Amino acid sequence: MICSLWHILVLLICHAAGVKKLSERYSWRTLHFQFDSREDREAAKNGGYFEYGNSIITSIALSGDRLFLATPRLKSGVPSTLNYIRTSDSDVKSPILKPYPSWEANVYYNMTSKMKRMVSIANVKVDNCDRLWALDTGSTEDLTSRKVETPPGLFVYKLNDDTLIRKHTFKDDDYDGETSKLRTIVVDDSERSCEKAYAYIADANGGLIVYSWEANLSYRVEHNYFHFDPLWGNLKTSRGTLRQVRDGIQGMALTLPRRNGNRDLLFHPLISVNEFSVPTEVLRNMSRAQKDITAYYHLGQRGVNMQSPASYMDEYTGVLLYTTIVRNALACWNVFGTRDEELESNQGIVYSFNESETESQQGTVDTFEESAYPADLTVDVNGTVWVLTNRFLDYIYEKKENNVAMRIYTGVVGNIIRGTPCDME
Ligand SMILES: *[C@@H]1O[C@H](CO)[C@@H](O)[C@H](O)[C@H]1NC(C)=O
Ligand SMILES: *[C@@H]1O[C@H](CO)[C@@H](O)[C@H](O)[C@H]1NC(C)=O
Ligand SMILES: *[C@@H]1O[C@H](CO)[C@@H](O)[C@H](O)[C@H]1NC(C)=O
Ligand SMILES: *[C@@H]1O[C@H](CO)[C@@H](O)[C@H](O)[C@H]1NC(C)=O
Ligand SMILES: *[C@@H]1O[C@H](CO)[C@@H](O)[C@H](O)[C@H]1NC(C)=O
Repeated sequence: MICSLWHILVLLICHAAGVKKLSERYSWRTLHFQFDSREDREAAKNGGYFEYGNSIITSIALSGDRLFLATPRLKSGVPSTLNYIRTSDSDVKSPILKPYPSWEANVYYNMTSKMKRMVSIANVKVDNCDRLWALDTGSTEDLTSRKVETPPGLFVYKLNDDTLIRKHTFKDDDYDGETSKLRTIVVDDSERSCEKAYAYIADANGGLIVYSWEANLSYRVEHNYFHFDPLWGNLKTSRGTLRQVRDGIQGMALTLPRRNGNRDLLFHPLISVNEFSVPTEVLRNMSRAQKDITAYYHLGQRGVNMQSPASYMDEYTGVLLYTTIVRNALACWNVFGTRDEELESNQGIVYSFNESETESQQGTVDTFEESAYPADLTVDVNGTVWVLTNRFLDYIYEKKENNVAMRIYTGVVGNIIRGTPCDME
């Protein structure tokens, strides 16, 4: 009784106050970087290594009070590709990015430094062993004339002392230098041992790279389910430019462990509304991963216009959270709720970025309708979800569009799913 009264009260308060489920934590239009000195910054600007407005954040990961931010070198003039800010500096709305682990590791001035250092970090994850995994695509200026600088690979840092503990370079047959689009990484610690960790790297050109930490080797897996679905590929920028996008597998998430301790990898192409799964023990066995084609399973559909770049399964609620770019929202899927065929009834919109954008317009000259593009999300150890929006379509397809709005929102998972079909209470 007390409980239901309490619920009614909370509902009333929420309605009355029009409580927002997610709140804006950070926002940027132009990213600034923490140079060691004014002279260094001027030198980088004069040398063409730093151009205002060309950097965009594509991925976020958290460890303690450090929020890691990937800024791939998609356009020229991105001075540092892996960065962090401190969430404990709570008053700052548009923090200056600090290179991680150092400027040294991010510099990019000549071939010698390119071969050794990080070239273009597209995606980051922190694992349960407090290691930061950074996916390096190895190529720059993908948007103008793609320059392959180094083979793609992984940089893994130990976060307690910020040392590089492994750099893995993908083999020639793991990817295709001309067509591969390495986008996202997830780290699998199903084996409950830091040494036995695996990483799965999505190649939006139809492949998945599996990396074994213990064996220190990688291999490529291909499956039809990794490919895009042409029905969902017509995307529009905020200015109304229509483009055909052909990106396959990108959004990946690991489920909670099954009874045998293993997880499933949930995955979906960016251009598709289907969701698929595969047991991780299949991926971890090189021959099974390729031969056992029926181990890849079609889980269902997210519904009309629900193309999604990123997803994450919350360990505590078991709810799959995902971002959706056309509907422009954070959505949820109660994947293991009820096993009926009406999959859409197990899903809900948690938060729409449509409304939030307009009220925080920064008074630019051309105030065309902004399309937020929720690009990445992560859930921290305290059950808070962090969502990054970055207007990626405008950044890549509207040639004159620099200084795109980037924002990071936070909300408590337990609260934001309340009242949606994902709420199990
Ligand atoms: C979780 O909460 C604790 C205690 O409030 C805090 O010290 C820690 O930084 C938080 N972790 C994250 C990732 O926000
Ligand atoms: C390349 O840059 C590094 C610093 O990152 C410097 O130590 C090295 O001498 C440079 N090499 C050449 C050939 O300019
Ligand atoms: C992993 O393999 C690479 C060669 O592919 C080698 O250079 C490197 O030293 C190995 N690292 C470890 C930790 O075994
Ligand atoms: C991999 O799977 C095959 C069956 O396809 C099996 O024969 C083999 O023992 C497995 N390898 C390992 C290391 O489990
Ligand atoms: C946000 O706006 C777009 C474009 O007007 C629309 O298609 C989409 O359904 C809206 N999203 C939500 C969650 O209402």
